Amino acid sequence: MMGAAIEVQNLKTVFGSKIVHESLNLTINTGEIYGLLGPSGCGKTTLLREMVMLERYHSGNINILGYDLSAIGSEEAQKLRREWGVLFQAGALFSSLTLRENIALPLVEYTDLSATMIEEIVRFKINLVGLKRSDANLYPSQISGGMKKKAALARALAMDPKLLFLDEPTSGLDPISARDFDALILELRSLLGLTIVMVSHDLQSIYDTLDRVAIIDHKKIAYEGTLDNIKSVDSKFIKTFFGKYNE
Ligand SMILES: Nc1ncnc2c1ncn2[C@@H]1O[C@H](COP(=O)(O)OP(=O)(O)OP(=O)(O)O)[C@@H](O)[C@H]1O
Ligand SMILES: [Mg+2]
Repeated sequence: MMGAAIEVQNLKTVFGSKIVHESLNLTINTGEIYGLLGPSGCGKTTLLREMVMLERYHSGNINILGYDLSAIGSEEAQKLRREWGVLFQAGALFSSLTLRENIALPLVEYTDLSATMIEEIVRFKINLVGLKRSDANLYPSQISGGMKKKAALARALAMDPKLLFLDEPTSGLDPISARDFDALILELRSLLGLTIVMVSHDLQSIYDTLDRVAIIDHKKIAYEGTLDNIKSVDSKFIKTFFGKYNE
């Protein structure tokens, strides 16, 4: 697997008088697990939302799977939205729906598949993320935090996406559930050939799962590359953040 899945060029993001990103460039290769890191408020979630067309950027461009988001038509946009799954920072399962209904939602919304076929796919996805078949009947309030993340992941995978966006997937999980989730991400990447973009503050998760990272600091990319020599990069954030980690 070669080539870029996502290219961000000269991106500028503005909210009112506040500039969040300026001259931001990065490239995410097909098949890699790519991390977006940086201090709180640096614009990681915003960048993720711009990539999945939930937020507009001021100028520059994002190219995703060959489509320029700056010039995309509504029909193409509709098609493109089916190519990715998203797991947002705050989980966001619908509390009034069972796990089965939550996971089926994109299939009901985007496809004309029969109820039997949808049921079949839901069962497959539940199994894929390591939940039990009987969990399908439970409501979000009846399951643990780790199970919620898995169910949200199953829903993100419902449409067999090429891309997966994860915003702090292990935050709020106990260490065992967090490592369990990391292992699942690695397994799914090799099983499904996904390209994964992950925002994280979890150092263990960062070292265990990411192929490359982009550090956003002072509105732009302070570093892009592997973690091998990251501690030698001249950045206060990087020194403070990674200094704590002993490999
Ligand atoms: N819709 C919006 N309107 C105005 N300001 C916004 C909006 N969305 C984000 N911002 C601002 O943009 C900046 C970046 O926010 P963002 O949520 O992307 O940060 P983050 O890097 O994800 O932080 P954290 O690590 O705390 O999740 C913040 O200053 C935030 O207040
Ligand atoms: Mg965020």
